[in-house]
Amino acid sequence: MASKILIITGSSQANSQSLRIGQYIKSAGEKLDLNLDLVDLYEVNLPIFLNQTANQWPQLAKQLSTAEGYIWIIPEWNGGANPSIKNMLLYTDVTLLGHKPVLLIGISAGKGGFYPIMDTKSVGQKDPRYVIIPDCLVINRCQEVLLTNNLDEQAEDYQLKLRINYILKILNLYIKNLNNLRQSKIIDYKTYPFGM
Ligand SMILES: Cc1cc2nc3c(=O)[nH]c(=O)nc-3n(C[C@H](O)[C@H](O)[C@H](O)COP(=O)(O)O)c2cc1C
Repeated sequence: MASKILIITGSSQANSQSLRIGQYIKSAGEKLDLNLDLVDLYEVNLPIFLNQTANQWPQLAKQLSTAEGYIWIIPEWNGGANPSIKNMLLYTDVTLLGHKPVLLIGISAGKGGFYPIMDTKSVGQKDPRYVIIPDCLVINRCQEVLLTNNLDEQAEDYQLKLRINYILKILNLYIKNLNNLRQSKIIDYKTYPFGM
């Protein structure tokens, strides 16, 4: 059965480049027979977490729960990750995300895109214990790339498109293997709901 992947686009503005890149990744993944869904956090409009639930949360929690792996597309804002995904993570816990693989994609209109990766890798994983895979994508000059779906060897973004296809297959490998790992009886979220 095709792996179920949830793409989350983490911009806090309408019609973001994050969303456009997410739509490209969705169609590239579908060509590889993956089963992808996309959630735009701008559309969800999840409030800043105040240690209480929100009307928007149950639907998003269901989508997070049924997915076997995630792609988080995070725009670089002020030299770091836009806070939308970090805010969403405060609503989650290990029972939703524990030992599921995450592919990080950092994007920038300029020459950046690395900071959102560094930022997201360094903080937030301790309690929900999702698994950030070592392969990531940095997409800079985002307005100029992935404008068409066809693979044109002469196009400047040809190598980027090949790498996207490669990395989606790697994510799929992590999904298959971590699905097995999550079946293990050793995993005990009741005794260990938080990480150290
Ligand atoms: C408040 C704000 C801060 C930004 N800071 C950066 C930055 O530090 N580095 C960068 O490369 N782009 C920065 N950008 C531009 C984004 O790269 C650009 O908006 C791009 O389209 C990706 O974001 P989006 O998904 O919100 O469209 C910033 C944009 C905004 C609105």
